[in-house]
Amino acid sequence: MDDRMVSAQSQFDDDSVEGSLRPQYLCEYIGQEKVKQNLQVFIEAAKMREESLDHVLLYGPPGLGKTTLSTIIANEMNVQIRTTSGPAIERPGDLAAILTSLEPGDVLFIDEIHRLNRVVEEVLYPAMEDFCLDIVIGKGPTARSVRVDLPPFTLVGATTRAGLLSAPLRDRFGVLSRLEYYTIDDLAKIIMRTSEIFQVELEQSASYELARRSRGTPRIANRLLRRVRDFAQVEGNGKITQQLTEVALEKLQVDRLGLDDIDHKLLIGIIERFRGGPVGLETIAATIGEEAHTIEDVYEPYLLQIGFLQRTSRGRVVTPKAYEHFQLEVPKS
Ligand SMILES: Nc1ncnc2c1ncn2[C@@H]1O[C@H](COP(=O)(O)OP(=O)(O)OP(=O)(O)O)[C@@H](O)[C@H]1O
Ligand SMILES: [Mg+2]
Repeated sequence: MDDRMVSAQSQFDDDSVEGSLRPQYLCEYIGQEKVKQNLQVFIEAAKMREESLDHVLLYGPPGLGKTTLSTIIANEMNVQIRTTSGPAIERPGDLAAILTSLEPGDVLFIDEIHRLNRVVEEVLYPAMEDFCLDIVIGKGPTARSVRVDLPPFTLVGATTRAGLLSAPLRDRFGVLSRLEYYTIDDLAKIIMRTSEIFQVELEQSASYELARRSRGTPRIANRLLRRVRDFAQVEGNGKITQQLTEVALEKLQVDRLGLDDIDHKLLIGIIERFRGGPVGLETIAATIGEEAHTIEDVYEPYLLQIGFLQRTSRGRVVTPKAYEHFQLEVPKS
C-alpha cells in the first residue's frame, strides 16, 4: 500500500529492499514499546508453558510494521510462519488446506484480515477456538459433517481497519495490539539503522530531518532515505548531509511536515472548494481523483493525528492549524 512517488519498477525494487530491512527479533524492533513489552511477556509465558501463543491481532495505519512483527513473533517462538491474506483465501477449502498443513505451534499470518469473506470467516471460528474444523462431506440428505482436529497454532491477523472486523472474529483474538505512529526519535533510530545496512554515511541532523518528514511511518522513512541516498550518490559525494537532505526532499515535493502533493491537494481542495468543510469523504475523493478508501487508510490518519483535519458527523473539516501551515487565512463564518 501507499506507493506514492515511485514508478512501478522502483516499487518492485523497494519491495525486495523492504524485506531485507525487516528486523528479525523483538530486540531489533525499534519503538512501539507498549506493544513490544506486552508481546515479550506473552511470548515468554507461552514458551514456559510449552503452548502455542494466543492469537494476535495487529492493527494500525500502513507501513508501521505489522508484517514485520508477524515474522518476529514466529522467530521469537522458534516456529515456522505461513503467510497469506484475506482476499487470497476464497473458499473454506483454501483455508482448510492451509490449516491442516501447519505444524504444531506454527504462526499463520493473515494480512488484510478484514477482507476475509463471511463463509471463510465462519470456518475460522472453531479453528481459532478449539483447533478443529467442521467439514461438510457430500450434498443433500446424505451430507454429513466431519470434525477434523488441527495442530495448535497462532493466528496473527493484520489490518489497517480494525473497525471493519466482525465482532465474533475480533473477540477470538487473545492479544490486540494497536501500532501507533512513531516518534521522531524512533524514526531517526530506524533511519540510522537502515543507513548502516546500506553502508551509507549519514549525518545525525540529516536523520532527524528525514524523521520529521516521514509521517510517523518507518516505510516512508526508509523510502525517503533511499531517494536521498540517490541524490547523494549522483549530485553529492555519497554522504548524506542535512543540506543535501533538504534539497533532495524539496525536489521530491515532501514538505517540512512530510506532506506531499496529494496531502496538499486534499487540504487545499477542501479549503478552496468547500471553505474548509465540512465535506463528505466521497466528495473529497471525487474532487482530487483518489479512491475514498485510499484517502481513509493512507492519507487521512496522519492528517488527523497532526491535527490538520477533523472528522465530524457532517464530514471532514480542515483546522486552523492547517491554514497556518499553508499561510492562509481562516475564513470568517
Ligand atoms: N519498529 C521497526 N523498526 C525498524 N524497522 C521497521 C520497524 N517497523 C517497520 N519497519 C520497517 O518498515 C517497513 C514497513 O514495515 P511493514 O511492512 O511491516 O509494515 P506493515 O504495517 O505491514 O504495512 P502494511 O499495512 O502496508 O502491510 C519494513 O521494511 C520494515 O523494515
Ligand atoms: Mg504488511
